[in-house]
Amino acid sequence: MNIKIFDIDRDHAAIRSDLVKTFERILRAGEFILGKEVRALEEEFAAYVGTKYAVGVASGTDAIKIGGLSLGLKAGDKFVTTPNTYIATAMALSEHGLVPRFCDIEDESYNMDPEALEGLLKKEEDIRLCVPVHLYGQPCRLDEIREVCSKYGVMLMEDACQAHGSRYKDRNVGTMSDVAVFSFYPTKNLGCYGDGGIIVTDNEEAYRQMLVLRAHGQTDRHVHDVQGFVSRLDELQAALLRIKLPFLDEWNIKRRQNASLYDSGLEDLPVKRPVEAPYAYHVYHLYVIAADDRDALRTYLGEKRIITLVHYPNPIHLQKVYRHLGYGPGSFPKAERSARQIVSLPLYPSLEADEIACVCQAVSEFYGK
Ligand SMILES: Cc1ncc(COP(=O)(O)O)c(C=O)c1O
Repeated sequence: MNIKIFDIDRDHAAIRSDLVKTFERILRAGEFILGKEVRALEEEFAAYVGTKYAVGVASGTDAIKIGGLSLGLKAGDKFVTTPNTYIATAMALSEHGLVPRFCDIEDESYNMDPEALEGLLKKEEDIRLCVPVHLYGQPCRLDEIREVCSKYGVMLMEDACQAHGSRYKDRNVGTMSDVAVFSFYPTKNLGCYGDGGIIVTDNEEAYRQMLVLRAHGQTDRHVHDVQGFVSRLDELQAALLRIKLPFLDEWNIKRRQNASLYDSGLEDLPVKRPVEAPYAYHVYHLYVIAADDRDALRTYLGEKRIITLVHYPNPIHLQKVYRHLGYGPGSFPKAERSARQIVSLPLYPSLEADEIACVCQAVSEFYGK
């Protein structure tokens, strides 16, 4: 059996004809940038998440950049995130002269450890923004993180790029911070057919600032008061996302069912399975296990034509681009250990039970069972 790591075409089989019809409708409509579809998606996505405002932008990376800058951050300001996220969480802001700091993660969830956060904020009083990542679709410990941030006067931006539809104690992620960001990269739980992203907030001032920043810093027609960008979501992407949004919850349920099939199929094997925290509604953007002999396991699965990936093999604080920050091996032991052990198994809504059984069987054979 050939098992892909993602299968977007198969996931969308039931809505393919609606997608094609919508594509044709947009071609004929003749409006391609920041039009009716983008406005409608922004309203529908804000209503889905439960915020007052949403602003469509060109990517999740731009959502982080514009989200952060909309809060008034400027070059030289410090922000904190975790070292085991996708590079964009740090680079979207460092690109604009903001300075990344990192804190370690919790072993079980791979998410930001609120105690480690507090330890850092105690030491470095000038950190202005905290960017916890709901990694793999599992929410962070938001109550504790919010408490620490408010104690130290630090603003909060949730990176929910991997967590559309995820919930923390029955509240949607994206509703518990100053601003929150989502990516519509094609493989995400809600993805488009190219790049796209969205920022959500209840803060009207930040919202107005986002509209200015995404459109060349234009405050009025042909009036540019601040340095801005060109970061717009296409009508076409917005229209296709509007077809998909009503299916997000159903697809997340399928992901959760598939995760639970993996949980039982891998139960007796010497691998660490993902743990859904008691406060979490995990949406399994990725199903990540950890194993001491990760690389050999991946090679074995590859030989069986089962594709796996590692999210992410090189912790950000050890990347050459951030060498000047003064971190080194050993700075964040938990994030570094996870980078050596983790592997993402195929998981998506249309993955079939027999395919999951086949992956579990191969893992079991690798361990000689
Ligand atoms: C945690 C996280 N942050 C940020 C991003 C950046 O999003 P994009 O690829 O849409 O720019 C991604 C997506 O890859 C991500 O997974």
